[in-house]
Amino acid sequence: MHGGQTALALLLMLAAGTLVGGQQTKLQAIECPFPEGQSVASEEECGKYTACEWTDGRCHMVDNVAGGYVVDSEPEDTGRGFKVSLRKSDPSVTMFGHDESNLIFEVIHHEDYHLQIKIYSADESRYEVPVPLNLPESPGSEPKYSVGVPALGDHFRFNVTRSSTGNTLFRTAGPLTFEDQFIQIHTWLASSYLYGFGENTHLSYKHQFEPRSTFPIFARDQPVGTDAMNEYGHHPYYMVMEDDQGNSHSVLLYNSNAMEYSTFLLDDGTPTLTLRTIGGILDFHFFLGPTPEEVNVQYVNMVGNPAFPPYWALGFHLSRWGYNSTEGVRAARERMKAMNIPQDVQTLDIDYMERQRDFTYDPTHWGDLPALVEELHNDNVKLTIILDPAVVIDFDDYQPSIRGKEADAFIKWSSLSLVPEDQEPAADDYMVGYVWPDTKTVFPDFLKPETQEWWSNEIKLFHEVIKFDSLWIDMNEPANFGTNLDKPFNWPPDKEPWSLKCPDDKWNNPPYPTKMVRVGDNQSKRITDHTICMTGNQTDGTSTFLHYDVHSLYGWSETVATHKALLELFPGTRPVVLSRSTFPGSGQYAIHWLGDNTADWTHMKMSIVGMFDFTMFGIPMVGADVCGFFSEPDMEMCARWMQLGAFYPFSRNHNTMGTGDQDPGMWPEVAEISRYILGVRYRYLPYLYALFHRAHMHGATVVKPLLNVFPDDLVARDVDDQFLWGNGLMVAPVLKQGAVSRDVYFPQGKWYNLLEGSLAATGPATHSIDAPLEVIPLYVRGGVILPFQEPSINTVDSRQNPFGLTVALDASGEAFGEIFWDSGDGEHSMGESYMCKLQYVGNELTSFIKHGEDVVVGLKFEVISIYGASSNPTAITVNGASLSESDWTFSEDVEVLTIRLSAHLGEPLSVVIS
Ligand code: NOJ
Repeated sequence: MHGGQTALALLLMLAAGTLVGGQQTKLQAIECPFPEGQSVASEEECGKYTACEWTDGRCHMVDNVAGGYVVDSEPEDTGRGFKVSLRKSDPSVTMFGHDESNLIFEVIHHEDYHLQIKIYSADESRYEVPVPLNLPESPGSEPKYSVGVPALGDHFRFNVTRSSTGNTLFRTAGPLTFEDQFIQIHTWLASSYLYGFGENTHLSYKHQFEPRSTFPIFARDQPVGTDAMNEYGHHPYYMVMEDDQGNSHSVLLYNSNAMEYSTFLLDDGTPTLTLRTIGGILDFHFFLGPTPEEVNVQYVNMVGNPAFPPYWALGFHLSRWGYNSTEGVRAARERMKAMNIPQDVQTLDIDYMERQRDFTYDPTHWGDLPALVEELHNDNVKLTIILDPAVVIDFDDYQPSIRGKEADAFIKWSSLSLVPEDQEPAADDYMVGYVWPDTKTVFPDFLKPETQEWWSNEIKLFHEVIKFDSLWIDMNEPANFGTNLDKPFNWPPDKEPWSLKCPDDKWNNPPYPTKMVRVGDNQSKRITDHTICMTGNQTDGTSTFLHYDVHSLYGWSETVATHKALLELFPGTRPVVLSRSTFPGSGQYAIHWLGDNTADWTHMKMSIVGMFDFTMFGIPMVGADVCGFFSEPDMEMCARWMQLGAFYPFSRNHNTMGTGDQDPGMWPEVAEISRYILGVRYRYLPYLYALFHRAHMHGATVVKPLLNVFPDDLVARDVDDQFLWGNGLMVAPVLKQGAVSRDVYFPQGKWYNLLEGSLAATGPATHSIDAPLEVIPLYVRGGVILPFQEPSINTVDSRQNPFGLTVALDASGEAFGEIFWDSGDGEHSMGESYMCKLQYVGNELTSFIKHGEDVVVGLKFEVISIYGASSNPTAITVNGASLSESDWTFSEDVEVLTIRLSAHLGEPLSVVIS
């Protein structure tokens, strides 16, 4: 703060009842949430809740005076902000009972652009998310926001305002509800440009308000679909673009309990958001950007900057469930090799295991797996293997479980009285379920230090057997099959039916189970469906947690443990952990794929939205199963998907058991298209690598929605069928069956065809672009320099190839870029890396080496292509020496100047064109 200011300077006292929209009036669109869903809404049902009222055929929350809280103290300066006490206005008004009578509303000032607001019980301690965040030790000095609360005795509400514009970022509407297992808050939004929240599959990046849409959030093994379903990860985080200038803010509700969000319009058309959670506290973090990109950076810096993937992980990954044998893998590899299709990683799914048990391999069909791994490594292809968290309850013969029991590594029932009577004695008081293996399983508690050690040890021991390079951790929501049902779908037919059954208590059957019980394939209609019971006990060694609270942290905790294990196994490297379930902060350790999609054009399109969402969540190394997981793609779909997937940061073709092979070598056309387009990917990997370096160092985004780069372009805000790599490379995939052209939106500036260099458009403009099957429209933006290297069959080879620069000139004839280079997989360090800045200004291309000349010994620039060059030069010098005329060509029709040279990356470059 300014010298002399107290933390109370953040406070803006709201005058009684002056709020636009009138807090005291009824807001009929603020619906009363029925546990059974809105289809049961009737006057009679409505009458069951004193917090609800029936007006004009609608059941809505009572107004703030009757249903909310009253300000019960003067604001108290905390040094870092302020707090006020709140008291429930009328204790008889409730949804499900157990209302907190006294709350604290606390404002904590962090950075000038970062504000935290907590609302918690004054009377009891409640669960708070134990995942650490990066918070500054001392606050900034000039906060960009103020927080409005009413005076003592007035009905509680609050506003967050951006000081520079007066934009209202958050403004509570209707009453705040704070019960033991039901917390609800509503806010007007500054606009309907709302993005984020997950993990859900969204049909569009921008959210819908009409009709109302309600999505649950709670980690769940839920395949991708077009309904509003809770899927694998838990990310209660959104962004709003407030005004036409592009001022934007984001909000994290730091809460890991089951929740839902609902977007709708008030009767006067105001976009509004309801947030509901069934545990914990309200803990908000606001980020004020002001640009969407800055918002993203600020958020990511707090949850942890993303891991820097090793170079090889940016290559193409091939995978499937159902190779069924080493021969199946060899056959797919042969197809790749025969067609010269680049590949860096081969992935194995659970079929490599013996009876689907972790840390084993099937001796019958995979007996020569060690030899296969050697073949892959000889080809410079890395091996990723899958691990599932659940391990079998064979405590006699299966060593990992025996050692796990010694370490007491598994989740237990929260009370001995809950242990089922028929529990196998050897399973002690562990919670027992069933997943892929043909024997019941227990679930490691990865929050626990002893479990982390055990897991790490098992990983190391298995590496002595199979020399994998990275790990894929699946089913970590955690998934359990058949919970509450008669038996799991894959239960052995010769065994008595059995399944994990969750008790009927307030944790396993909470009063408001959220919409999740009514969506997807929730067969038992309970929050425990397809997972373990909420009455599991977990511990981080210090505190004990109910699974009810930490359920959505399961994948995060397994990721942390697996990352640590790989670091111990491969010291000094950058581990790759591919995790299905994620939480804020997972990006520091994990990469992510978007789960079980279907070979379907809509799913292909939705994968772009998924990429944008995970970019927001700080997990930029993301992609969908290329060519679709379920069902079988035809040649055209797989070709189009390979084209799109070549630009997913995480590019992997994967499919399910029992379907035909869909590796790109399966169709001659797809093979040819894939060889070409993966070649383009590999060519520009130096650019992608530099983007990931920025993401890791600064939290910058890698794949960018157009709105991140053009925040004041209103058209760009709706574009989610095109995307950018960084600021410079635009991808406009064909996403429709049979289409041989598509409309492409070009934001402001010059856009050149990426590979030919001709000017494609001067934006803003939309053009219909021809795109026959072998073409995916790709552009480079004027003003950007893209470094490239000629492609090869894998990155070990491509990293040796000569460098080139694609220099795309803007309207003033300038362009800028950078190169980052290092060993490709060593621990990231300034001392062992090369960084150079590139600029083309006044007909001179210059490189400024920041550090690491010795890291790029042997690497040379051999070609420079200047797009938008106006005329054939009369002379060109490279570092003072004249080139001969045969060293360059100028194509007049496309205005591209191509210069051939030989200059070391490690020496400053100056190319003067006259
Ligand atoms: C579910 C995963 O999402 C999928 O990718 C995998 O193939 C199967 N589990 C089998 O492990």
